[in-house]
Amino acid sequence: MGKEELMNKLEEKIKSCRKCPLGELRTNAVPGSGSYNAKVMFVGEAPGYWEDQKGLPFVGRAGKVLDELLAEIGLDRDEVYITNIVKCRPPDNRDPTEDEIKACSPYLDRQIDIIRPKVIVPLGRHSMRYILEKFGFEVEPISKIHGKAFEAHTLFGKIVIMPMYHPAVALYRPALKEELRKDFQKLRELTGESL
Ligand code: SF4
Ligand code: URA
Repeated sequence: MGKEELMNKLEEKIKSCRKCPLGELRTNAVPGSGSYNAKVMFVGEAPGYWEDQKGLPFVGRAGKVLDELLAEIGLDRDEVYITNIVKCRPPDNRDPTEDEIKACSPYLDRQIDIIRPKVIVPLGRHSMRYILEKFGFEVEPISKIHGKAFEAHTLFGKIVIMPMYHPAVALYRPALKEELRKDFQKLRELTGESL
């Protein structure tokens, strides 16, 4: 089976999933969007109001920030892949619980296995923690390790993990938006170098 078929099947599974209580509350599940051949995968936290309405990741206010950051380094949404650790919206945009992350993260694991990105960018603390632990790294505060490159060795080759602040923080903390900008420049250097 090719990537397209595998991803389509997985997306169908996610759209009808009821493995955790968020499945009962959602309008639409949000599997992810972008290229199945992406070299760079962004992993946010969970869908918010607009994502739940539209079934697409990062289409609300945080999404605008992400679009701006991508544009600044000349990347288009269609050439990267964007998803979340949890695929259905938590009520009132609360943080996803440990149980929800546990129920949902096998979908993300599968997306990584199918797409085989060269770089994974966890956006925000929760996503950072999940991805770093998954690849066997020690978790440290995001203020300390954002923009750093962690090299993971997998069965299908090297993956660089570069955690960053969540774009939503840029909406109310301009200093962190500057940090995000700098980290995106590092991402550009990395992709220019090795992809
Ligand atoms: Fe299934 Fe994930 Fe939605 Fe829970 S959040 S119902 S595990 S797709
Ligand atoms: N915040 C996220 O973490 N993910 C989205 O898809 C939207 C907002």
